[in-house]
Amino acid sequence: MEPLLSKAASKPRALTHRELVELLTFPDAGALFAAAYEVKVREIGRRVSLRGLIEFANVCEKDCFYCGIRNANGKVDRYMMSADEIVSAAKWSYKAHYGSIVLQSGEISSKSHIALVENVLRRIRDIAGDGFGITLSLGEQSEETYRCWREAGAHRYLLRIETSNPALYATLHPSDHSWERRLECLRSLRRCGYQVGSGIMAGLPGQTVDDLASDIEFFASEDLDMIGMGPYIPHADTPLGHGVRWNTEDKTRRLELGLHMIAATRLYMHDVNIAAATALQALDPEGREKGLLAGANVVMPNATPLVYRRNYRLYPDKPCLGEDPGACRGCLERRINGVGEQILWNERGDSPHWRKKKDGMH
Ligand code: 5AD
Ligand code: FES
Repeated sequence: MEPLLSKAASKPRALTHRELVELLTFPDAGALFAAAYEVKVREIGRRVSLRGLIEFANVCEKDCFYCGIRNANGKVDRYMMSADEIVSAAKWSYKAHYGSIVLQSGEISSKSHIALVENVLRRIRDIAGDGFGITLSLGEQSEETYRCWREAGAHRYLLRIETSNPALYATLHPSDHSWERRLECLRSLRRCGYQVGSGIMAGLPGQTVDDLASDIEFFASEDLDMIGMGPYIPHADTPLGHGVRWNTEDKTRRLELGLHMIAATRLYMHDVNIAAATALQALDPEGREKGLLAGANVVMPNATPLVYRRNYRLYPDKPCLGEDPGACRGCLERRINGVGEQILWNERGDSPHWRKKKDGMH
């Protein structure tokens, strides 16, 4: 193996910033992905955890310049699933043996929303018990809210930092969106006892490879348990994506960058959960499988009822908009088995990094 790759594979966090940059621009992508995949197999096995993704509301208080469901986008048909609908989607994922779900929505901070989520969590726990993993992805909230949801049965929380560079963050968000507050939220989540996940978008305008290397160092310094990242995909109805034209070559470049980030993160962090983001599949029909072979170990099949699905478009070309949850289940199993990986049915799929910490090995 190439010396830089074997150095990275032999020990977590072994690389300097310069060396991380080298990984991210590594010319032999095949060798890079193979080295990352070897670490993944060693730490986790040829196994993939599933999370049924339930996008239960596209209402959002925020106005991120890149996101299709931003508050100011008047073209979106807004929806909010009822508690019964959310619980039944969760029950579907449980019965489909997914082992865990992610509840995701736009950022909503109202009291009624907080209470709805709490109620839904308790009902899901009553049905599926504590062995069923529940991840939340509901944006920035108060520590009190995070604690309430944790006590109601959520185990994990995803909150992407989007970029570890505060100056770049400021160019992607209105001035009342704060990078510091987001970081504070990640720390609150840790205090509340969640497995904490974060991540970034790769290929943002103005982002450098140095930024991306720093992102990976940020994941390590915040001691994250789970990483979810994907390529940035311009959305025409947003300030950042308006009028942007792009072609197949751009798609390939963005996909490659996303895969390099997964591989470099696996080679740096070794034992964290890394998701093969759906955005990869928006760029390439086999994007998620490629993500698995570059070191990811988590896939999030869409479990949102078909009627709502087309309205939850953070970026264009989102896959599976016409497939109901059952079709996705079969399709995904074939795809995952097709690259020689096995699905961990009925398992929560906790982050090995978190488990080791809990057992006092870190
Ligand atoms: N392209 C790729 N990812 C996006 N997200 C939002 N908009 C886009 C886009 N245009 C990601 C953000 C957010 C997550 C839920 O979706 O990283 O945290
Ligand atoms: Fe949805 Fe393949 S995963 S159709």
